[in-house]
Amino acid sequence: MNQSNTPLLQAVTELIETKPAYFRIPGHRLDKGVSSRWTDQVGTAIFAYDVTETPLTDDLHSPEGAIGEAQRLLGELYSADQSFFLVNGSTCGNEAMIISAAFEGEKIMIARNAHKSALMGLILSGAEPVYVMPEVIDDWAIQGEIAAEAVRKAFAENPDCRALFLVSPSYYGICSDLRAIADICHEYGALLLVDEAHGGHVYFHDRLPAGALEAGADVCVQSMHKVTGALTQSSVLHIKHHGVGESVLERIAQNLQLVQSTSPSYLLMTSLDCARYELARNGAKMMEKALHLAAYARHRICKISGFRCMEGERLDRTRLVISAGNIGLTGYALEKILFEEYAVNMELSDYENVLAIVTYANEIEDMDKLVAACAEISGRYAGRDALRREDSYPPFPQLPQQVMTPRRAYFSAAETVCWQEAAGQIAGQMIAPYPPGIPVIYPGERISQAVWDYIECFRRDGRQIHGAGPNGRLDWVKVIGTETKSCKNAIDEI
Ligand SMILES: Cc1ncc(COP(=O)(O)O)c(C=O)c1O
Repeated sequence: MNQSNTPLLQAVTELIETKPAYFRIPGHRLDKGVSSRWTDQVGTAIFAYDVTETPLTDDLHSPEGAIGEAQRLLGELYSADQSFFLVNGSTCGNEAMIISAAFEGEKIMIARNAHKSALMGLILSGAEPVYVMPEVIDDWAIQGEIAAEAVRKAFAENPDCRALFLVSPSYYGICSDLRAIADICHEYGALLLVDEAHGGHVYFHDRLPAGALEAGADVCVQSMHKVTGALTQSSVLHIKHHGVGESVLERIAQNLQLVQSTSPSYLLMTSLDCARYELARNGAKMMEKALHLAAYARHRICKISGFRCMEGERLDRTRLVISAGNIGLTGYALEKILFEEYAVNMELSDYENVLAIVTYANEIEDMDKLVAACAEISGRYAGRDALRREDSYPPFPQLPQQVMTPRRAYFSAAETVCWQEAAGQIAGQMIAPYPPGIPVIYPGERISQAVWDYIECFRRDGRQIHGAGPNGRLDWVKVIGTETKSCKNAIDEI
């Protein structure tokens, strides 16, 4: 195929060039009807590309023209057997993978550091999750890879799992040994489903870790908006046949219709077409630049007193995990200072670290600004005591007891109790500190004291928690089958 083509961009352009009398959706009539409040700031040209299905522009849910060709070009670039555009982010791709892989009553293995979209997939599917815990990197107080040995042990105990779903690279850029893990999955006749939301770029440079498809995954999902030039929400799903679960793979296209809009945005899809084009032409150069910029900053930050920057094997080295814990700054404090005082926007923070995602579109000035800010902060906080281990959040809790499947719990009648009374109860909802949006408790699990203590740290410190009530605070929580009523009045008042 000719990777210099951008069939969807071409099709939409052709449509616009017909200067149509336009009576379709969307109502803004190409570049005419969007509020001037906005067009005064950004111009009108881009809005003409916000069109819909026409004989020229094809249909995402039944692609036979430009979208079909654009998806085939994408598949060729990633050496996939089939590739799909996703307009609801990797979230919908993860959901489709899980609902395709395991029906109600069947087992599916899920890495416990999975993004909350895996839970949404479990709720939709009704499958019974078997969890596998990630390693913990004590030095940085973050979750690490999923060890192949842990996967082998889990399959030995649950040989009937239909698939393993895991995240690699993680948000922090940590990759699992996917080759070894794929072999184990296939030994058990199970599919390897990889949430590669953070890894769509790793295929384009040999100093980046191996991509999931290269390592033997059967299906993977990539947020092209996170790491390449596609617009927010634009993701892709790839299938590679390994002779396992063929009927599952056939279900994916159908299930993508279940979780995606019937009005997919042509802006998003065209951005995917163009992002693929750039990667095909310049992928290696783009990643070389990102690696160079990250190495430049890592090297300098490591020399700043009180600062550290994570190194390691199987690490996507375009991610910078930075800690200033040695001068008493939590990641939360450092992120706030960087944002408010230096206009340096980090992707996220945790108790110990801040995370920067470096891409080909950053410039050396960005890196210099980050490094200079860190150097100045180091001077300001020099001499402060290091963060005390005993003050930090407790370690990631062990797996809580699963009393019922997430789906059953999610659709069970639940009562609302005060958070203070939640320990020991069966959760009727997920609770996921955000970012990174990894549920600490899934619906249907008993809230152990260790889980409660862990979540309480986030609650106490006013951190954002997904699953909290409308005021954003976890004052109460939905539980199943409780006798506790003593908080009712307090809840009514809220
Ligand atoms: C590991 C992981 N998977 C999936 C998602 C969801 O991706 P999207 O935002 O493209 O829906 C995220 C979002 O941050 C994520 O971090």
